[in-house]
Amino acid sequence: MCGIIGIASNKQVVQNIISSLKKLEYRGYDSAGIATIVNGEINEKKCMGRVDNLERILFKNPAAGSLGIGHVRWATHGSPSQVNAHPHSSEEVSVVHNGIIENSNELKINLEQKGYKFKSQTDTEVITFLLTDFLKDFDLVDAINKTLKTLNGSFALGILFKKYNNIVVGARRGSPLAVGYGPEENYLGSDSYALKSMTNKITYLDDGEICVLTNNNVDFYNSKNKKINKKVLTLSIDEQTSKKGDYKDFMSKEINEQDITAKTCVKEYVDQLRKDINLYNFPIAPKDIEKIVLIGCGTAYHSCAAAKYWFEELTNIPIEIDVASEFRYRKIKFSKKNLYIFVSQSGETADTFAALDLCKKNNVKTCSIINVVESSIARSSDLVLPIHAGPEIGVASTKAFLGQMLVLYILAIKISEIRKEISKLDYEKKINDLKKLPDLIKKTLDYCQNNTPVIAKDFLKAKGAIFLGRGLSFPIALEGALKLKELSYLHAEGYPAGEMKHGPLALIEEGLPVVILAPKDRYFEKTISNMQEVIARGGKVILITNENNKIISENVRFTLEIPMTNEQLTPFLMTIPLQFLAYHVASLKNCDIDKPRNLAKSVTVE
Ligand code: F6R
Repeated sequence: MCGIIGIASNKQVVQNIISSLKKLEYRGYDSAGIATIVNGEINEKKCMGRVDNLERILFKNPAAGSLGIGHVRWATHGSPSQVNAHPHSSEEVSVVHNGIIENSNELKINLEQKGYKFKSQTDTEVITFLLTDFLKDFDLVDAINKTLKTLNGSFALGILFKKYNNIVVGARRGSPLAVGYGPEENYLGSDSYALKSMTNKITYLDDGEICVLTNNNVDFYNSKNKKINKKVLTLSIDEQTSKKGDYKDFMSKEINEQDITAKTCVKEYVDQLRKDINLYNFPIAPKDIEKIVLIGCGTAYHSCAAAKYWFEELTNIPIEIDVASEFRYRKIKFSKKNLYIFVSQSGETADTFAALDLCKKNNVKTCSIINVVESSIARSSDLVLPIHAGPEIGVASTKAFLGQMLVLYILAIKISEIRKEISKLDYEKKINDLKKLPDLIKKTLDYCQNNTPVIAKDFLKAKGAIFLGRGLSFPIALEGALKLKELSYLHAEGYPAGEMKHGPLALIEEGLPVVILAPKDRYFEKTISNMQEVIARGGKVILITNENNKIISENVRFTLEIPMTNEQLTPFLMTIPLQFLAYHVASLKNCDIDKPRNLAKSVTVE
């Protein structure tokens, strides 16, 4: 979950490495570092904290070099500290690493016996010393491949050498790595986003491959030391959408652009003229699908949980949902008649990718719903359905959640239509309703902008919070709780409202904020009864319901009203007040909104 950058140039590279590291901070931000070759020697600078700290250090003690590597860290082995920050260097090599070396302890014992002295608690330093050792007896590519074969686990590496002082080397197994081509310089990056300001010509490394960059050439090798050719892709340039503009942080920008997310997504998939949904090339004919399995992590899993309700309502297909980290280790009964759908914003989440890989090894059909179209998950799936949300930079997922739910909903309608499980009239009505959705989202955004800050104050002294919903509002309650905990560090739980009396009701005490999601749907009366049970025990209720749906209860502390829409579209609107609430509570607590503690945007370790 760390970020890697490398540049081989004929100009000074430090400033470009720093700018790229800032873009990679969404992958990790507990420490940062850089290494360059100066006068034939490796020169390393690193520190705890953000890239800004590193920049301040470099301002006082500038580093030179036309060849360099950089790193932002999300700690796995060894706490965040200067000594554990990357690069990890010997006299001969300097290494930046994303991933986990699972056999690092035993490798360390062997290397210590050979006389290597470890400075850090990281798993990465074994790579530095293994390379140093193999380089004594083998030439460059052979020494790298011998090192890689000694390692268990996952890695993307950037490496500098004292002896080969005009190259930057990259290698990957399990963690993503991209090569970029520029004018008289070439780049290495954890993803194309970090390289986009420098180039849109990209090659992705596959597992087991090595790349050797000079300022005017890139060579690729496989694990047998053989030179190989790789395709160069030209990416779209969408730099503009990755800027904060007038917003205070990326998260508020991303929350507020959800009407655009919905508009773009609907435009991509819905043909308003023909009143049809443009979805083709299903890896299994929808009429033959016997089961759909939806898999994701965190927020992406919550979008799968919402989709279960839509698919069950609209089709006769049995639906299973699974958290990727569980799916990948269970004894799954795979079937060629099942469709396995993977949901991921980044398309790089290690557990989701491993679950997809498991499906591929079992020869079953896969579909991915992703935001980053060049990602590993997208590249490995039989069918790719992008959500078209544009770059999401804030670590807490907001617009991508909405986009994921929207594509899943559109997919459910289309599969239902192909299987003739929905009438033509109903199909066209759903398409019409989709067209209206962006305006309803805009209205909800404007309303929440004004009405949520005052509610946030109530959470400041609370020990925690509970989010309750039934039906489609249950996965949204889970997502509301996740947003609050990750942004404001306040304990929060989401429950199906009907579950309260089976245990969680014991948590209710005087003043505990309880957010009740009660749209005017088939569950409304039941949810309101659950709300009364909370009120009777002193819970401070924040009720979210539809406008003009007056509920007379003196004891509801705040009511928020979302526009009325059909039951299946309600989750898209219901999510918005919860995002605002989490945002404002975190702001009042002075939390780092875009980079919550201990987290990273792209979870590329297991
Ligand atoms: C929460 C959040 C995470 C991600 C999860 C999966 O706000 O962002 O829970 O949803 O790490 O990430 P992706 O969607 O990139 O696979």
